[in-house]
Amino acid sequence: MIRPILKYGEGVLHEKARPVEALTPEIDTLINDMIETMYAAPGVGLAAPQVGEALRIFVVDISVGQDPNGLIVLVNPEFVERDGMQLEDEGCLSVPTFNATVVRPARAVIKGLDRQGAEQRHEATGLLARAFQHEMDHLDGTLFVDRLRGIKRDLIVRKIRKLTRAGRW
Ligand code: NI
Repeated sequence: MIRPILKYGEGVLHEKARPVEALTPEIDTLINDMIETMYAAPGVGLAAPQVGEALRIFVVDISVGQDPNGLIVLVNPEFVERDGMQLEDEGCLSVPTFNATVVRPARAVIKGLDRQGAEQRHEATGLLARAFQHEMDHLDGTLFVDRLRGIKRDLIVRKIRKLTRAGRW
């Protein structure tokens, strides 16, 4: 089932998500919904808080469904290593129509559980490393806008407030 994607300003997006304690059928359904919602958007990643669930789960597919092995589901993910630096334009399904250059580490090693509960580990560079870090941020209540500084962030926040007041957000 495609779920509505919450937008900047919704409480759950700005809170720390809690770990998943058991891979229940409800969690399995949530993961299916997240995958479907990500592909429908379309987007390269989606975290559970974006569909209103304050749980530490995200899905990523930088091929947006083109690569049959491209889909990664991570439950209770943690960074093992991060190094280097990359500067690229970034957006978010929860902050539609806005994007900005965000500083991220160039490489990331991440571990977590897959949807069957098996430990998995991924080493990533470039866009995949960026996607991991963007989705991990969601699990801690941080959106890319929060990573910007000064006028760049103020400009986006002001525009979002204006759209919200106009009932267009
Ligand atoms: Ni996002």
